[in-house]
Amino acid sequence: MALTRIGLAGLAVMGQNLALNIAEKGFPISVYNRTTSKVDETVQRAKAEGNLPVYGFHDPASFVKSIQKPRVEASKIFQGDYYSTGSPVDKAQLVEDVRQALYASKICSYAQGMNIIKAKSAEKGWGLNLGELARIWKGGCIIRAIFLDRIKKAYDRNPGLASLLVDPEFAQEIMDRQAAWRRVVCLAINNGVSTPGMSASLAYFDSYRRDRLPANLVQAQRDYFGAHTYERVDMPGSFHTEWFKIARNISNN
Ligand SMILES: NC(=O)c1ccc[n+]([C@@H]2O[C@H](COP(=O)([O-])OP(=O)(O)OC[C@H]3O[C@@H](n4cnc5c(N)ncnc54)[C@H](OP(=O)(O)O)[C@@H]3O)[C@@H](O)[C@H]2O)c1
Repeated sequence: MALTRIGLAGLAVMGQNLALNIAEKGFPISVYNRTTSKVDETVQRAKAEGNLPVYGFHDPASFVKSIQKPRVEASKIFQGDYYSTGSPVDKAQLVEDVRQALYASKICSYAQGMNIIKAKSAEKGWGLNLGELARIWKGGCIIRAIFLDRIKKAYDRNPGLASLLVDPEFAQEIMDRQAAWRRVVCLAINNGVSTPGMSASLAYFDSYRRDRLPANLVQAQRDYFGAHTYERVDMPGSFHTEWFKIARNISNN
């Protein structure tokens, strides 16, 4: 089966090496860069490093065309209307909602990132100070966000913070924005527009903020297919249900 072509635009230090690395693993890749000599340079490097499957393009249109084939084919299969509420969209409101949704998603992704670092630090015994990390990043080459000041302050307020999400300031900001965030994600889902970042952040938030999650459904499924039993929240013990029989009774009645 032919592998899906990956696309990479921007062929400076990072881009060129990324492209060659991906191609070296056997994945065909299309590349494009504003200064087209870098496209040729990358293709030549690919050739010299063992005829790696790197395909160069000198204009954005042909570059995009070269990578969109599987999506174009899929779009022919999945045609038709999406579910839509049909109500007209207030564009000014939508723009503001997206702004708020983006901000809330950003808080969430920083919260996740910080907790990943915290977990690795605990595993490796690094003793990292998360507030200090935020301060140090501010001096780095890329992340200079004012946001990092606020993260540092959150950890100064409470060095043992379980998650940035529960810092009082960030929590309030999320609360103020969650309605807009939900509106944006719902609108996108209902119209078949993929918003992986915002949707994943919202799912993370909705998991994190719940004292109970729908894991009981998983327990029920395990009990159904393998009699693994389940626990209940209203009484101690292990339970098993003959789910088949219940289903049969329901369908018979
Ligand atoms: N270098 C690092 O240590 C590092 C670390 C983490 C993340 N990053 C991120 O990785 C990305 C690339 O880093 P880099 O250091 O290689 O960046 P860079 O030196 O700024 O190179 C960017 C490349 O993108 C090309 N480009 C810019 N706008 C374009 C457009 N509209 N169409 C096509 N090509 C375009 C540039 O073309 P021209 O050749 O025409 O200028 C250049 O070759 C950046 O987003 C950077 O923030 C870099």
